[in-house]
Amino acid sequence: MSLSVPRPAFGRAASPSDPPPVAPSFRPRLLCAVWGPKGGVGKSTVAANLAAAIARTGRPVLALDLDLRAPALGVHFGLASPGGLATLLGEAVTTDTVRHHARPAPGAPGVHVLTASPSDLLSLGAEEADRLIAACLDAWDVVVADCASPIDEATTFAALRAATLVYLVVDQDRVAVETAWEALRLAADAGIPRDRVRLVVNRYLPGYGIPVSAIEQYLGLRARAVIPAQPLAYLRAVQEGKPCGLSLNGKPDNPWARLAADALGTEAPAAPRHGFLTRLFRRRTREVVGRG
Ligand SMILES: Nc1ncnc2c1ncn2[C@@H]1O[C@H](COP(=O)(O)OP(=O)(O)OP(=O)(O)O)[C@@H](O)[C@H]1O
Ligand SMILES: [Mg+2]
Repeated sequence: MSLSVPRPAFGRAASPSDPPPVAPSFRPRLLCAVWGPKGGVGKSTVAANLAAAIARTGRPVLALDLDLRAPALGVHFGLASPGGLATLLGEAVTTDTVRHHARPAPGAPGVHVLTASPSDLLSLGAEEADRLIAACLDAWDVVVADCASPIDEATTFAALRAATLVYLVVDQDRVAVETAWEALRLAADAGIPRDRVRLVVNRYLPGYGIPVSAIEQYLGLRARAVIPAQPLAYLRAVQEGKPCGLSLNGKPDNPWARLAADALGTEAPAAPRHGFLTRLFRRRTREVVGRG
């Protein structure tokens, strides 16, 4: 990855010929790997909505589909399958070719998508996967990768190792939670630091399934976002090729805006103060939206 400012050596007094100090506005590159060992828990949904929510803050984002067996980001962002990774991998993988083959998402301003297509059944070796991720991070400041479930899939493994943050997605299904525990162990064995792993509980129904507090306790992780179950809204979003969270823009307690703030390490947008009756009415759902 190339940084525009040369890095001075540590433990040495500054000399007049040293480059100027990094400006306070310097923002390191960010790779969010969205992952979960169980199929269907909402990894692609979380990746698409996280990418769109980060872009809403004004930072351009590359949404990278690394689930080569079951790619979904093209559909989530309303882009036809052909093109993207399939074409890119037929050429040299460089910063320029990544920029060339990533396509702007029509319904999500600020998001470019590197799609994969289901028919290609691409598979990458470890070195190719590392090169792809490095080129993406060179081309974009912020990359959100939708990973496949198996940790030993080359693209997933490369993304998890390079990730600034790994968003581990579970739902309230016991299988999802138990396999997530095992996945955390495998990730630790593979040298992925645990403090980079952040929990997202998706498709949450208060009063059903495993409570969030029990999931947190079992996995030893605090949920950074709890996304309510809204089947119709998410089905419609996929149908329209536009992430669901965009329709929540400007609304208080938008969990995607909170998740974007978590990833960027910024303050989540403040929720407006509600009157007494509203607060009473919202008490049951507070657990769903009030975490961060
Ligand atoms: N918060 C939610 N509320 C309701 N439905 C949801 C929610 N999140 C995801 N879904 C739905 O659940 C299904 C699976 O979601 P998604 O494809 O994102 O999961 P996945 O983990 O990426 O699956 P795969 O393992 O196949 O890649 C989709 O139909 C999606 O619309
Ligand atoms: Mg998926």
